[in-house]
Amino acid sequence: MSTMKIALITGANKGIGFETARQLAQRGVSVLLGSRDAKRGEEAAATLKAEGLEVAPITIDVTDPETVLAAVKQVEAQYGKLDILINNAGTGDFTKPASTETVGEWKRVFDTNVFGLVETTRLFLPLLKKAEAGRIVNLSSILGSVSLAADPNSPVAGSVGHYAAYGASKTAINMYTVQLARELELEKSKIKVNVAHPGWVKTDLGGEGAPMELEEGAKTSVELALLPEDGANGGYFHLGQTLPW
Ligand SMILES: NC(=O)c1ccc[n+]([C@@H]2O[C@H](COP(=O)([O-])OP(=O)(O)OC[C@H]3O[C@@H](n4cnc5c(N)ncnc54)[C@H](OP(=O)(O)O)[C@@H]3O)[C@@H](O)[C@H]2O)c1
Repeated sequence: MSTMKIALITGANKGIGFETARQLAQRGVSVLLGSRDAKRGEEAAATLKAEGLEVAPITIDVTDPETVLAAVKQVEAQYGKLDILINNAGTGDFTKPASTETVGEWKRVFDTNVFGLVETTRLFLPLLKKAEAGRIVNLSSILGSVSLAADPNSPVAGSVGHYAAYGASKTAINMYTVQLARELELEKSKIKVNVAHPGWVKTDLGGEGAPMELEEGAKTSVELALLPEDGANGGYFHLGQTLPW
């Protein structure tokens, strides 16, 4: 079994996942950079390797359990464990009013953001249990907070009405995280699972108008991935601050 910490990040060929891979590798973690497209994954990994970082691409489409299972087998054969799983892959559409989003559009968002995350976690859990102190980071969003969406004075108030499916998918991730955290706690497992809101970050998903740069946007995921033994479990965080559910 590898003595290095091994991390796997889904959707790491670009955006926040890519920067998270860079920052974790800079901290001495060996990073498997997940990408649903093998070529995009290889190119992204090559960029980080050229910076002297220990990263390798791994093909995972979170909506295709066969690819997740193949990745589990690969990680098991190569490392025998997984220390950190960052469920970062995500998608969303913020252009449609809630009343016009179709069930097909809801399903597309839930397939990736919720069902993909749940299945990826389920399949990697045995390898996380083999690590000394597994960490799971689920990328949600402040847009998953029901209490903030319902508060007319909250920072998200101006966008409410235009992220029903995306927001609900992140709310589902929040609930899943709390449920899994409690289950692991009852088992006396050393695994911690938390929710990260990266901030509103300049990426293809966040758009060019976002105020945060990638470097800052990856920090919450990195912090939760490297939590010490007395760190949080089942929490909802942005840059060290707790968010309301
Ligand atoms: N940016 C923000 O302001 C913001 C705010 C709050 C939360 N978030 C969350 O942060 C996470 C990362 O977002 P981002 O802004 O970095 O977005 P991004 O730049 O659009 O990157 C999304 C990543 O997810 C991958 N992906 C999409 N569907 C996938 C699938 N089925 N299987 C595997 N990978 C898949 C994409 O791969 P391809 O390149 O192949 O499409 C890409 O690598 C998401 O969960 C997002 O909801 C972002």
